[in-house]
Amino acid sequence: MRKRFLSTIALAGVAALGLAACSSSDDGGNGSGDGDTITVGFAQTGSESGWRSANTESMKTAFSAENGFELVFNAADNDPAAQITAVRNFINQGVDAIVIAPIVEDGWDDVLQEAKDAGIPVILEDRTVSSSDDLYASWVGLDFRTEGVYAGEWAAEEFGDTPTKMVVLEGTTGSAPANDRADGFNEAIEGTAIETIDSQTGDFTRDGGKTVMEGFIAKYGIDGIDLLYAHNDDMGLGAIEAIEAAGGVPGVDIKIVTIDAVKDGMQALVDGKINYIVECNPLLGELAAGLVKDVLAGEDVDKSYYVEDQKFTQEEAAEVIDSRLY
Ligand code: AHR
Repeated sequence: MRKRFLSTIALAGVAALGLAACSSSDDGGNGSGDGDTITVGFAQTGSESGWRSANTESMKTAFSAENGFELVFNAADNDPAAQITAVRNFINQGVDAIVIAPIVEDGWDDVLQEAKDAGIPVILEDRTVSSSDDLYASWVGLDFRTEGVYAGEWAAEEFGDTPTKMVVLEGTTGSAPANDRADGFNEAIEGTAIETIDSQTGDFTRDGGKTVMEGFIAKYGIDGIDLLYAHNDDMGLGAIEAIEAAGGVPGVDIKIVTIDAVKDGMQALVDGKINYIVECNPLLGELAAGLVKDVLAGEDVDKSYYVEDQKFTQEEAAEVIDSRLY
């Protein structure tokens, strides 16, 4: 399927389209474009990372009363069953639309069907689901697989034919970013001398990354690990604490590549503790809000909108760090 990529400018354009679509229709419905407040239930994953905090802030800003919304916010603390319950509660409350950042890909068929039967459109943001795309109106997020490819291409370039022992800190098991970032990375390092000696989930959290890295160091020693691939900055930052506590020098003794490019991660890159970062842009609120308005106004929308990511070396991070929004 052709991928529709959006730059920041295009994002603003689509959001503006949503606003225009809302103010120009007058159907007398409940928040479907008659100028009434639109009630939106947003099922967030939790608060596992710096990326997530930036994403939540972006969503809350976009779905503000000022922009014509009443936001019913739920953060499920990374518990897939609790997130499905939250969506079911939104259906029972009769919200106008539901936005979901799905913790995991599987298990959504029933509740998405229930939302459809209740006539409540669902917009997915950030992560994807394995359900049929008939069950939701649209999705906006990042190309996690390409993020993994970019990280793997850096590792392949850096280590090439040099025998390299790599450990991996995986994101939440069953989540789209954990699955796709693993696939993309593995594809990019195929044929190199990089060997994955261990791979475990740190659940996208700093504590998780630290604890799992402590285990890797206890098992292999600092000298037995050349490279760490962390599926997000926070786990990489936790691993840095573990490496330093064990007397190692992160970024030197163990090279580190991560994904997200949040402030703390970029600072660690500038400081030389991380060696390369692939961005995952969390500022999806305006586009999600525009999509909700467009869908409720009966506008045609695409099934998926990909937001483009950047990638940063230490020098590139130093140039942009002060101007970044998250
Ligand atoms: O789904 C996006 C991922 O979720 C981010 O990379 C990670 O930091 C977050 O928890």
